[in-house]
Amino acid sequence: MTAVTDTSPVVSIVHGTNADLIAEAARLYIPDGAQVADVTWGKGAFWKKVDTSAFTVQGSDVAEHIGGHGNIVLADFRELPYADESFDVVVLDPPYVHNPGKHMTDARYNNAETTKGMSHNDIRQLYRDGMREAMRVLRPAGRIFVKGKDEIESGKQCWSQTELLLDATSLGLYGKDSFVLVPTSRTAMGRWTTQLHARKVHSFLWVFEKPTKTDRRVLHVVDEDGWVEQWTARRPRDKRLGGWVWV
Ligand SMILES: C[S@@+](CC[C@H](N)C(=O)[O-])C[C@H]1O[C@@H](n2cnc3c(N)ncnc32)[C@H](O)[C@@H]1O
Repeated sequence: MTAVTDTSPVVSIVHGTNADLIAEAARLYIPDGAQVADVTWGKGAFWKKVDTSAFTVQGSDVAEHIGGHGNIVLADFRELPYADESFDVVVLDPPYVHNPGKHMTDARYNNAETTKGMSHNDIRQLYRDGMREAMRVLRPAGRIFVKGKDEIESGKQCWSQTELLLDATSLGLYGKDSFVLVPTSRTAMGRWTTQLHARKVHSFLWVFEKPTKTDRRVLHVVDEDGWVEQWTARRPRDKRLGGWVWV
């Protein structure tokens, strides 16, 4: 449990487990009385060190041995059975490694049931769809906790942490904060004959915020030379015109 009297500053690097990470993020970003939806419940390990008496957590998961049992709802996080603007925090932790064949986390994260055959881009789309649905069920100023990890696919580095920020901001979310989790337990590692990239032992947690006014969004546009530019669009002041205009 997080001590209610813990007044030490919340810091961006957490050494420990997912439970330590969520306890730290919760101190700053889950207000008392909040309604929280954990839409990738799994084993509920995120909440093991959080004092959940101060707010309510509703779990859901698409895996049939988890969702539909006890008070855990059976639901795909891309289509949640919740009303618009009914939660203050949504927690999204999909399996984050692409999964063409076998992976050591298959059993733990229900990969065979949920992400079998997915490429890195498919996983990115899964996150994007999850964030879009989270935005729907979040109240204005509500937050989404998004857990992820950078990964290697076919020998190429995939920068999930950066992609998630780009995707979230293009949906109209604000990148409020980000945490890095460094596990204190030994990470299981396969052997490579030739090492091409540093092994990623850390994972990350983004905290995105739904703006109170949803009439502005940041989009990333790739020009003909391949440079990425950040453009801001807003809804036209004349509501009859609809759509978006660049500012
Ligand atoms: C990395 S685990 C989550 C672990 C969890 N945070 C915990 O503390 O135990 C990923 C979970 O997401 C679920 N999942 C995968 N795809 C999903 C989807 N489309 N909708 C809902 N849940 C999904 C899996 O069944 C799995 O339980």
